[in-house]
Amino acid sequence: MSRILLAGHGNVGKAFHELLLEEAPRLAALLGEAPKVVGVLRRSGAWLDENGVGVGATLLSRRQSLSVVDALDKVRPDVFVELTTSNLQTGEPGASYIRAALERGIPVVTANKGPLLRHYESLTTLAKRKGVPLRFEGTVAGSIPTLNLHEFTLVGNPVTRFDGILNGTSNYILTRMAEEGLAFADALKEAQELGYAEADPTSDVGGHDAAAKLVILANHVLGVPLSFEDVQREGIERISAAAIRLAAKEGYAIRLIATADAATRQASVAPRLVPVDSSLNVRGSLNVVRFATAHAGSFTISGKGAGGRETATAVLSDVIHVLRGRTT
Ligand code: HSE
Repeated sequence: MSRILLAGHGNVGKAFHELLLEEAPRLAALLGEAPKVVGVLRRSGAWLDENGVGVGATLLSRRQSLSVVDALDKVRPDVFVELTTSNLQTGEPGASYIRAALERGIPVVTANKGPLLRHYESLTTLAKRKGVPLRFEGTVAGSIPTLNLHEFTLVGNPVTRFDGILNGTSNYILTRMAEEGLAFADALKEAQELGYAEADPTSDVGGHDAAAKLVILANHVLGVPLSFEDVQREGIERISAAAIRLAAKEGYAIRLIATADAATRQASVAPRLVPVDSSLNVRGSLNVVRFATAHAGSFTISGKGAGGRETATAVLSDVIHVLRGRTT
């Protein structure tokens, strides 16, 4: 039986834990035996059980005082799933946790943007040097397979550029302002209530969150070592209802578009006019990415880019890839 150590039991962490239990029969069919969460780590302590930690166990059962590094040494899991709170400035503490696992030869799956945003080169190099998987599909566009699409499916056809909507909260706000005439603040409040927004929504509406995902995508998919500071960034805070109405009259929607180009190495996140019939004009909290490729034109993929359960599906698929790699 494969054993998982899970760090972080918030929105995504809990959703992943629940999904793993719900999908147990299918996982057993795919992997021989369903993997189990044998440890949950939160800021408040550690819960370890070789028979499987339940989703509610962190409320009910006995807590141990154990650091993440000590837990990695004690548990020696088959996969370390790192879903602690994202810090876009430093990438910590997630980056240190991921490094500690890789140093010990333990495969890592994460949906935490901060570590990959700030330490892409050093973390992926460490993983390669150790020959240990480091997968992070959930860091970009929630449930949409952007990184894995490139890595598995488009592997014979290099991506040269991408354009897309990488922040669900800002797209939700722009959609609600356009379609219901809502004020910016009211639409933001709705997005927060629906669980799309970050703890500090400044990073959603200011374009920081989209820029972080763009940087991870550009490094992974374009092979361009962009940093956060290289991205020209403008948010949607100053988009008025009047501007949205005017754009609509001319057949356009205003969308927060993230763009990066391998040849020019230019990258930006900014509000743009998008023809209403464009494949980039998705509504509500949806995300979309259009990949331009070297040999076969463009591919557009859209879907749910925010939400605990949605992001947990990306984490689970990475866990399956890791475990399959080990068992086949
Ligand atoms: N706050 C993010 C969004 C969640 O709105 O897209 C996913 O990173």
